[in-house]
Amino acid sequence: MHHRPLGRTGWNVSEISFGAWAIGGSWGEVDDKQSLAALHRAIDCGVNFIDTADVYGMGRSERLIAQLKRERREEIIVASKAGRRLPAQVVEGYSRENLTAWVEDSLRNLSMDCLDLLQLHCPPTGLYYRPEVFEILDQLVSAGKIRYYGVSVERVEEALKAIEYPNVQTVQIIFNCLRLRPSQLLFQQTKARQVGVLARVPLASGLLTGKFMPDSRFGPEDHRNFNRNGEAFDVGETFSGVDFNIALSAVEEIRRLLPPRLSMAQFALRWILMFDAVTCAIPGGKKPEQVADNCGASQVPALPLETMQAVQAIYTDKIAPLVHQRW
Ligand SMILES: NC(=O)c1ccc[n+]([C@@H]2O[C@H](COP(=O)([O-])OP(=O)(O)OC[C@H]3O[C@@H](n4cnc5c(N)ncnc54)[C@H](OP(=O)(O)O)[C@@H]3O)[C@@H](O)[C@H]2O)c1
Repeated sequence: MHHRPLGRTGWNVSEISFGAWAIGGSWGEVDDKQSLAALHRAIDCGVNFIDTADVYGMGRSERLIAQLKRERREEIIVASKAGRRLPAQVVEGYSRENLTAWVEDSLRNLSMDCLDLLQLHCPPTGLYYRPEVFEILDQLVSAGKIRYYGVSVERVEEALKAIEYPNVQTVQIIFNCLRLRPSQLLFQQTKARQVGVLARVPLASGLLTGKFMPDSRFGPEDHRNFNRNGEAFDVGETFSGVDFNIALSAVEEIRRLLPPRLSMAQFALRWILMFDAVTCAIPGGKKPEQVADNCGASQVPALPLETMQAVQAIYTDKIAPLVHQRW
């Protein structure tokens, strides 16, 4: 496993890290024993950074990570998030009282005294124009409750605004073969300011593993069923916001680019790692074998320029007209 520096934090994190949403909830039934095995496999593969949130199974994901930390001696850096427990997403909800209470709950769930990295969890755009919220985060750092903070955003423009605040250490954003816009202006700016970039939804909710068919079905508790049209949260979080059948046809074109002995997941992740502005991809994994497959991407040699151009061409032709200006 190769590591990359996470912004200005001084941490070197595994370029393939672990996204812990699915082991908490919203992805159909998960079994804690299997989830814990997946987490252990990640550490076995050299992962040292895990992304979670208070709302992933309302603490379930964070508690599993706490258990993992009890069972392992390796250093494991944990990034959590706060804000989505608000009944309605309003800027006023990001008050000192609420932020402090959410952080305390995450600390309890994670059995930690100080959170390594706290990310604002896709707050409304207006929040980025409220410096007082970032002052509260600075005070939480001074109080020793959080070591660093960053943002998880829906839109490129939110990220560009967020990194104007000097103590924002990381930006988490959707970036994958079906979502290329962050690689334009945003990556230039994060590099210039030494802000870490966490590429989330790197497999487009599993689509880029190439395992889905037009007749694939998802259970009622799985956002790939209940959020297909953005019914519960931003539609961009489900299949990257691309129509399922159109995405499948793009995936078939990407499949033709696959070098020998690589899985589709490894190809999709290696493609992300070709961008040096990216600190790490954070694929979700429910099963140890998925995690091992994903971690294998770090060992894959650089993809040829023609392959990168071919993915760009598929995106430009099939996907960009649908999503490029939306996020
Ligand atoms: N608003 C936010 O801040 C936000 C939103 C979304 C995600 N995130 C973070 O980003 C992380 C990653 O995004 P994501 O989990 O939404 O999507 P993803 O990483 O694109 O897809 C993950 C899913 O794909 C399937 N999968 C993973 N590896 C596989 C493999 N090698 N072979 C076959 N199937 C595989 C698994 O589901 P199945 O086995 O069920 O198919 C897994 O749960 C999350 O876990 C979370 O930490 C944050």
